[in-house]
Amino acid sequence: KRIVVLVSGSGSNLQAIINECSGGFINGKVVAVISNVHNVYALERAKFHSIQSLVLDHTAYDSRHKFDEELAAHLTKLAPDLVVLAGFMRILSKAFVSQFHGKMLNIHPSLLPKYPGLYTHKKVIDNKDKQHGASVHFVTAELDGGPVVLQSVIAVCDNDSMPSLRSKLASTEWLIYALAVKWFCQGTLRLQQDKVWFDDDLD
Ligand code: GRF
Repeated sequence: KRIVVLVSGSGSNLQAIINECSGGFINGKVVAVISNVHNVYALERAKFHSIQSLVLDHTAYDSRHKFDEELAAHLTKLAPDLVVLAGFMRILSKAFVSQFHGKMLNIHPSLLPKYPGLYTHKKVIDNKDKQHGASVHFVTAELDGGPVVLQSVIAVCDNDSMPSLRSKLASTEWLIYALAVKWFCQGTLRLQQDKVWFDDDLD
């Protein structure tokens, strides 16, 4: 399966997916990486693995619509089976999302539907939550609102800080994202009538 990964930052989730494709856990290949930010580390990771990459700087476009149109045009040429948002910090328009309906996954650092949007670790600490987690979900037009596929849960300890939560959660993200991408690529996970659908023979 052809996977295109959209990034804006360090790309540790991208790395996990590249590793699991090379190791054969995921039956797929990352064919391209697209970033909306120049010089991010995710681009170095792509280069190191000889994966083609492209920067579409959103600040160079007059409107969200124009940026999304250009991104969609590039994606269409790349013909992905799956688009993976891995720390991609742009809100995508309804028109864009509908073009890739059922073919686009995101990972979000909270136990959705709790805390969509930014500053999730801070919200967990401020609210003295006992648990935190990450969610892999299909992307719909609602921000961080699409059907959830898989979640990781961690305990929040008294001495936890935003950096400690971020780093603990990141290790769980790499595992659950790779697993969800594996399931999608083997055809045992899909979106059916806007609901998550798992085939019986998950292995
Ligand atoms: C992760 O915390 C993910 O949940 C969020 O952005 C971060 C991406 O990190 N959407 P990385 O760029 O994959 O290292």
